[in-house]
Amino acid sequence: MRTTNVADVADLRERSDYARGGVPGFPERFTTERLQLRCWDPEDAPALRAAIDGSLLQLREFLPWAMTEPSPIEELASRLRDFRERFRAHQEWMFALLDLRTGALLGGAGLHRRAAADALEIGYWLTVEARGRGLATEAVLALTRLALGPGGVSRVEIRCDPRNLSSIAVARRAGFQYLAMLPEDTTTPSGAPRDTLVWERRYFPEPATPATGGG
Ligand SMILES: CC(C)(COP(=O)(O)OP(=O)(O)OC[C@H]1O[C@@H](n2cnc3c(N)ncnc32)[C@H](O)[C@@H]1OP(=O)(O)O)[C@@H](O)C(=O)NCCC(=O)NCCS
Repeated sequence: MRTTNVADVADLRERSDYARGGVPGFPERFTTERLQLRCWDPEDAPALRAAIDGSLLQLREFLPWAMTEPSPIEELASRLRDFRERFRAHQEWMFALLDLRTGALLGGAGLHRRAAADALEIGYWLTVEARGRGLATEAVLALTRLALGPGGVSRVEIRCDPRNLSSIAVARRAGFQYLAMLPEDTTTPSGAPRDTLVWERRYFPEPATPATGGG
């Protein structure tokens, strides 16, 4: 079975803005094996517009925000400016997912304060071209590790539509446990009532550290 390598996130603090006195709590950018996760910038608007345009039908299946797309570039830029302000105000942390090698925009992922006070919820999406390579799982593992790390929260949740099999597979691959089904607690992007599956992860083992010499 293929596994996703998240060991790169272990030295996050050394390689991120966090180490340079940036935003306390979560870094504005960090890397995994194949991705750079970076706080959105208004200048990402044209790339975001292209990413949305190319995957709009598939995004609309499960993401309510996609129903009002495509938006003018200026409107997207203003939304991204808002994301950046919210990130810096420690309200929620929305990241662009970039190909580490090429810098291409592949999707988005974020940590949101939607659940209980001791928890953060992870959301994620990929362009159609970026799917099928384990990149969403890689991003979710990295964000989960971050969220459950020092100064973080005790639980991370994923909430999804029971029909969203790809999202369920991401939750399972990223080591989340099924917690509950909330009947008709929300609506589909087209407005029909729907159930929500809640998944959680509480623990992220630290990578093995070299044994310290005795005596
Ligand atoms: C949810 C979503 C991000 C999942 O994308 P995905 O590409 O299926 O998920 P991953 O990136 O983790 O890739 C997993 C696939 O890559 C394969 N894969 C290839 N290399 C891999 C690797 N190194 N590690 C893990 N999986 C790998 C897996 O076998 C799996 O393939 P399968 O779907 O044929 O079983 C995507 O469907 C999407 O953007 N949907 C719309 C938005 C959405 O629903 N978001 C979630 C809301 S709750």
